[in-house]
Amino acid sequence: MSGFSAAWLELREPYDRSARNATVIDAVAAAFAGQPAVSIVDLACGTGSTFRAVSPRLKARQNWRLVDNDLSLLARTPQSTPPDIHVATVPVDLNRDLEAALDGPADLVTTSALLDLVSDEWLERLAIEAAARRLPVYAALSYDGRIELTPQDPADAAIIDGVNRHQRTDKGFGPALGPDAARTAVTRFEHVGYAVVHGVADWVFAPKDREIQLEMLTGWAAAAREIGGVSPTDVIAWLTRRRGFVTSGRSTIRVGHVDFFATPTGSR
Ligand SMILES: C[S@@+](CC[C@H](N)C(=O)[O-])C[C@H]1O[C@@H](n2cnc3c(N)ncnc32)[C@H](O)[C@@H]1O
Repeated sequence: MSGFSAAWLELREPYDRSARNATVIDAVAAAFAGQPAVSIVDLACGTGSTFRAVSPRLKARQNWRLVDNDLSLLARTPQSTPPDIHVATVPVDLNRDLEAALDGPADLVTTSALLDLVSDEWLERLAIEAAARRLPVYAALSYDGRIELTPQDPADAAIIDGVNRHQRTDKGFGPALGPDAARTAVTRFEHVGYAVVHGVADWVFAPKDREIQLEMLTGWAAAAREIGGVSPTDVIAWLTRRRGFVTSGRSTIRVGHVDFFATPTGSR
């Protein structure tokens, strides 16, 4: 499975759903309670994971614009919805045309698993453009740099360091914020006069979650090998040992994420 393949997004979606911070998503639902209709722009929607998580929480007529630059993922977004929920797909390169994606009727911006891919400059652009339109922003599942593995292995720390350095490389939006994304985003939105509710949204993989554990470990080994710092032989040996823990039913993995809901306050 590669970067953002439909298969990878499908595999991670149930874990994303369980990880979403309940206080944060409750705040999103509460902000629109009693409103008869809500228009939502979902940035980097993939196949519609955020739509599936948020839509049942909004007791209103809904108009969703699902934005992504990957046509094959957009083609996998929900094609049939209840009559009071309308979904449109919008192919846009968000690095080039963020402003165009935000134009048009909107009451809420959502995104998930995007902000760790973007640069500080792009994040500032998002905060400024959202603030100019007084749009609340719900951003879920930003990786925060924490990876906890059991059983422990002597090479874990070096591999995790490599993964976090790789996270900061360019993912199409300039040098990525990676593990700093959520912290930086909360600060950026507060600076433009937003109130921000945030909380942890960690992935927790139990020994039975073998498929996703093996995917994660393989991806981390590839990232560590690409970024350097650990020899290829040591990376392969680490991956072999960790795969052994998974196949023998002894491995657990926690991956730290943060969710936040930022709302414009009356002061600006
Ligand atoms: C980690 S996936 C998250 C997808 C979805 N939000 C989810 O949680 O399942 C990142 C998404 O960002 C999209 N993406 C990456 N670069 C993009 C760009 N320049 N413009 C628009 N979308 C982009 C990818 O196509 C992918 O769908």
